[in-house]
Amino acid sequence: MPVILAIESSCDDTSAAVCVDGVVLSNVIANQTIHEAYGGVVPELASRVHQQNIVPAVQQALQRAKVSKNDVDAVAFTRGPGLLGSLLVGVSFAKAFALAKNIPIIEVNHMQAHVLAHFIGDNKPSFPFLCLTVSGGHTQIVLVKDYFDMEVVGQTLDDAAGEAMDKTSKILGLPYPGGPLIDKHARLGNPEAYKFPEPQIPGFDFSFSGLKTSILYFIRDNVAQNQDFIAENINDICASVEGRIVSILLNKLKKAADHYGIKDIALAGGVSANTGLRLGLKEMGAKYGWNCFIPEMQYCTDNAGMIAIAGYHKYLKGEFAEQSVAPLARMPF
Ligand code: KG4
Ligand code: ZN
Repeated sequence: MPVILAIESSCDDTSAAVCVDGVVLSNVIANQTIHEAYGGVVPELASRVHQQNIVPAVQQALQRAKVSKNDVDAVAFTRGPGLLGSLLVGVSFAKAFALAKNIPIIEVNHMQAHVLAHFIGDNKPSFPFLCLTVSGGHTQIVLVKDYFDMEVVGQTLDDAAGEAMDKTSKILGLPYPGGPLIDKHARLGNPEAYKFPEPQIPGFDFSFSGLKTSILYFIRDNVAQNQDFIAENINDICASVEGRIVSILLNKLKKAADHYGIKDIALAGGVSANTGLRLGLKEMGAKYGWNCFIPEMQYCTDNAGMIAIAGYHKYLKGEFAEQSVAPLARMPF
């Protein structure tokens, strides 16, 4: 019955979770709101706020799981990829806790953990499956052959899908992070109102920078003619942008599913919280006979629950890290 304490601090959310025998019993997430005013995450500020949040987040996670810190068998932590200053806080905490309790530490790759979030609940995909991992920093189609045997078969050549959401919202004058706000406005708008281009990229790769430029010019030209263009049409603009981002993502996913002959299809990462994407995948699944797996909302955006489940499966394999382990801003699978 291993008890795993997990820490996630790769970007701007401080999170701690406890997993007992493969069951995630708590998942505490402290969001940082300080970045809203800056239109994006300020790394130095993120690191400082992690330092303030980490001890209370761990205390709450242990409390909610009704687990004493003396019962913890191992500490799992995000080693990378992410912001170095942010990662450093989680890595240092994990090491210090483990040293004090004389227990092992387990390093986890954040992008693998997003995929492994599907093993938290009862409805688990079977290997091999395809996972579309879409976050603020990544857009990947991952061929998942086993818990830690994953291959990125397609990825973005420039911006990530979440970045496209966040940059569009910035153009529209909405605060950071804009993805959830685009989602909210899109529900009230017409996705057919405006047509944005779908890039023609070979294979399973993506590109979002051309879309971003076309959105920028579209807004600039319309605002030049009518100052109130954004305010009057925000719902239709958001619905059309979201609709195009979703169609780019799902068309590539369909192409990969056909190529690999795989019918277990999963979504992961912060953008998998998007209503249009969730609905779109369900529709495609019904049409093509896929078994679709969409994580619970709390396990879509950054969270330590996914680090805990990844840590649990590494614990079972006896894969522990050395105390000398350092965080990595870039960390391939
Ligand atoms: O996985 P995540 O929490 O952090 C990273 O590892 O990047 O993903 C954050 C991204 C942000 O770009 C945010 O705008 C986007 O996920 N996001 C959404 C929604 N909720 C979060 N995008 C669209 N619709 C949402 N409901
Ligand atoms: Zn993430």
